[in-house]
Amino acid sequence: MLEGKRIVLGVTGGIAAYKAVEVSRRLIDAGAHVVPIMTAGAQKFLGTATLSALASEPVQTELWNNATTPIPHTKIGQNADLIVVAPATARLIAAYRMGLSTDLLTNTLLATRAPVVVCPAMHAEMWEHPSVVENIAVLRERGVHIVEPTEGRLAGGDIGKGRLADPASIVEAAARVLGPNDMEGTSIVVSAGGTREPIDAVRVIANRSSGKQGYAIAAEAASRGASVTLVSTASLPAPYGVKVLQVETAAEMKVQMERTAADHDIIVMAAAVADFRPVKPAGGKLKKHAGPPEITLEPTPDILAELGSAKREGQIIVGFAAETDDLLSNASKKLSAKKLDLIIANDVSASRVGFGHDTNAVTLVRPDAEPVEIDLASKRDVARAVIDVIVTIRNRH
Ligand code: CTP
Repeated sequence: MLEGKRIVLGVTGGIAAYKAVEVSRRLIDAGAHVVPIMTAGAQKFLGTATLSALASEPVQTELWNNATTPIPHTKIGQNADLIVVAPATARLIAAYRMGLSTDLLTNTLLATRAPVVVCPAMHAEMWEHPSVVENIAVLRERGVHIVEPTEGRLAGGDIGKGRLADPASIVEAAARVLGPNDMEGTSIVVSAGGTREPIDAVRVIANRSSGKQGYAIAAEAASRGASVTLVSTASLPAPYGVKVLQVETAAEMKVQMERTAADHDIIVMAAAVADFRPVKPAGGKLKKHAGPPEITLEPTPDILAELGSAKREGQIIVGFAAETDDLLSNASKKLSAKKLDLIIANDVSASRVGFGHDTNAVTLVRPDAEPVEIDLASKRDVARAVIDVIVTIRNRH
């Protein structure tokens, strides 16, 4: 995702400084070379040894007294592909806005042409203070990418907006800034997770889908500049920049998908939609002493087939085929029956493939091209291959 990218990770003095270690680890896992800088304030919360050990090179803290590079800030700034400041205090944000170069980090920020991602973390009152609000607005106007803090329990024990965004979102933001942006100007809606159909007030018919593949596709599309909506039954963290609409049943998913599909260019049905649902779910809880219930099922609407039939000119419709036998022939039948541009076929009986796993192996089948096999890979890598094909289809339209 970030292979070969040189990313300066600036850490400032907030209680969330310890989370910079996780940000650094994730950036390195994504292939980046992490150059860490800590301010004096950051060192009150996190030892330089910890970050030095886990980043790609030792932490730098000093503008002066650097034996190897007399002017480190210009070198660091010029060589960077990206600067991420996480956490960013109100003070750093103000200094950056004003152009105050008081230490190595602020100097580096002023001496770079690389894009900058600022991830504020502070107390809710500070985040809402007019001076911080104005400073953030000015930085945004200048093209600085802001990863907003999230709501939650703050250092003082109270609850509000001010927690550092989670490290995964920060890495997503970095990928988005440095990504190919070949989905810019495109809107995509992805469904994810398994639907749950009520039997009674407490029981449901469900399936083993985790939603991970749909979320990975949404995250990948967003990192490449698309405007993304997820219609989801899963309770996974929302990928950075993705709007999530929560649903539970096939009927709810149909309503949201139809509503959303009307103004989206690309539709990806990654959800495992129940094919049957109880005709009349009991309002209360079925009691054991009444004996085994007779549950009569009825078919659910095929959301994807209906979206395929109602397809607009230029719209791209993508489905999944979860199979245990005759993978390619079954997938091809679904491709034509549901009028799809692409179907992602997976053999859900294979090990580490499909439902619930972090990995997947799929075959991408299109009406007018040779099938493309993607061997066992992370769901994010599979998502990348899927979006690559979608971009190819879109460019042909
Ligand atoms: N799908 C849907 N609505 C349904 C059932 C399935 O939109 N009621 C979508 C799924 O999201 C998937 C595709 O159709 O993208 C194929 O789903 P799959 O379960 O593989 O196949 P089915 O069409 O349900 O057929 P079968 O269960 O017989 O394999």
